[in-house]
Amino acid sequence: MVVEVHSAGESDFKALCEIYRKEYGKHVEDRVKSYLQYYHIKVLKENDKIIGALFWFVRESPHHGLAEIEDFFIDKGYRRKGLGTQLLKSAIEDVKKHFEALGCSARKIIVLTSKENPIARKCYEKQGFKFVAELGGLFKENVIEVMYMLSF
Ligand SMILES: CC(C)(COP(=O)(O)OP(=O)(O)OC[C@H]1O[C@@H](n2cnc3c(N)ncnc32)[C@H](O)[C@@H]1OP(=O)(O)O)[C@@H](O)C(=O)NCCC(=O)NCCS
Repeated sequence: MVVEVHSAGESDFKALCEIYRKEYGKHVEDRVKSYLQYYHIKVLKENDKIIGALFWFVRESPHHGLAEIEDFFIDKGYRRKGLGTQLLKSAIEDVKKHFEALGCSARKIIVLTSKENPIARKCYEKQGFKFVAELGGLFKENVIEVMYMLSF
C-alpha cells in the first residue's frame, strides 16, 4: 500500500464533492468550493484515490496563533493502520509552518469531537491534545461534544 499525504487543491474538487455529497446534498459544490478557498485540507491518497482527509482553519486573526480542526476521517477499510496519526501529525506541522510564514507563532489547536467517540479522542490524546471542555447539544440536542486542545 503506497499512501501519501498531500495538500488538497482544485484537482481534488470533484473527489471531495463526492465524499461530502451525502452530507451537504445539493449545496455540496458551494461547500467544497469554500473549503478549498478558506480551509487547509490535507488528504491521504492511495494512488489517486482520497482515503482520508483533515480540514483545519485559522481562528480569527493569525496573531492569536489559534487553529481549529473541523473534519478528520480515514476511510473505513484503511483504519487502525496508523494513517490517522500520520495525517494528524502532518496537519500539526502544517499549522506551525503556516503561522511561521505569517510571522506569528502557532499557540493552540482546538478540535471538537463527540464524547462517545473514544477512538478519535485517543487519536488526539496520543498527539498531546488535552481534554478542556464538554459542550452539550451543539450538533444534536442529546449528543455531548468534547473540546480538545493542543498547546505549543
Ligand atoms: C478517528 C480516525 C480518523 C482514526 O484514524 P485511524 O487511521 O484509524 O487512526 P490510527 O490507526 O492512527 O490510530 C490512532 C490511535 O487511535 C486509537 N484507535 C484507533 N482505532 C482504534 C480502535 N478501533 N479501537 C481502539 N482504539 C483505536 C489507538 O489508540 C490508535 O493508536 P495505536 O494503534 O498506536 O494504539 C478514524 O477512526 C475515523 O475516521 N473515524 C471516523 C471519523 C471520526 O470519528 N473522525 C474524528 C472526528 S473529530
